[in-house]
Amino acid sequence: MEVIIQPSPADCAAMGARIIGKLVEQKAGAVLGLATGSTPIPLYGELVRLHRDGQLDFSGVTSFNLDEYIGLPGDHPCSYRYFMQQELFKDINIKPDRTHVPDGLADDVDGHCKAYEQAILDCGGIDLQVLGLGTDGHIGFNEPGSSLGSRTRIKTLTGKTREDNARFFERIDEVPRHCITMGVATIMDCRQILLFAFGEGKAEIIAEAIEGPVSAMVPASVLQMHPDVKIFIDDAAASCLKQRDYYKEVFAGKPSWQSF
Ligand code: GLP
Repeated sequence: MEVIIQPSPADCAAMGARIIGKLVEQKAGAVLGLATGSTPIPLYGELVRLHRDGQLDFSGVTSFNLDEYIGLPGDHPCSYRYFMQQELFKDINIKPDRTHVPDGLADDVDGHCKAYEQAILDCGGIDLQVLGLGTDGHIGFNEPGSSLGSRTRIKTLTGKTREDNARFFERIDEVPRHCITMGVATIMDCRQILLFAFGEGKAEIIAEAIEGPVSAMVPASVLQMHPDVKIFIDDAAASCLKQRDYYKEVFAGKPSWQSF
């Protein structure tokens, strides 16, 4: 686990975009795992910029999103399909049929979740997964108590998550109670993971995830067991980390061949 502390979300986004850019350049048909929420917005902005500057070609890329609200159609402004369309897909040359977001209106939710897992396998697995972090420690929508061996499935959102996400809706009672999310084990199967967390509001949970015990009660803590994770945080989100100075020293002393 590599903890990278930067002054601002923009610095984290620039580094994350360079890592994604290198992968997309080097691997024809790279498979990206994508996240929603406010955290990845600067990252997507940077990817769009690189694409516009002619530096990044997404025509061979396939994407899988982590999650979607049950009950929202893809053209609903609060759906994650809509978010992805607005924040990234409409501004890059990814082929629409290669973008996957769970279907919040699926009739057979269970069958849809199994097919989603199969589609990931059929594409050769996810090369790089982008993650944000819920204030309750969730990744995707794997709420506290989620099985660390879970796969794509229906979940019930916690009250805390519904409160946190109410800002995107007109009223809290419009926030769906259920979602479809990749499981914790689905995320752990991804070959490389970049987690982003910004601001004071994420400081306590980021410390639990990185330095606390591995526990289903903090689903993000399982990333401690993944062999290739980079955690990009700004100074505010790093404020509760015990080893903060050490992480900074490690990053400052990185050999040039490891830089990005
Ligand atoms: C949602 C998403 C998560 C995201 C989290 C954090 O609940 N399902 O994937 O990481 O929100 O949101 P934000 O980035 O807005 O803080």
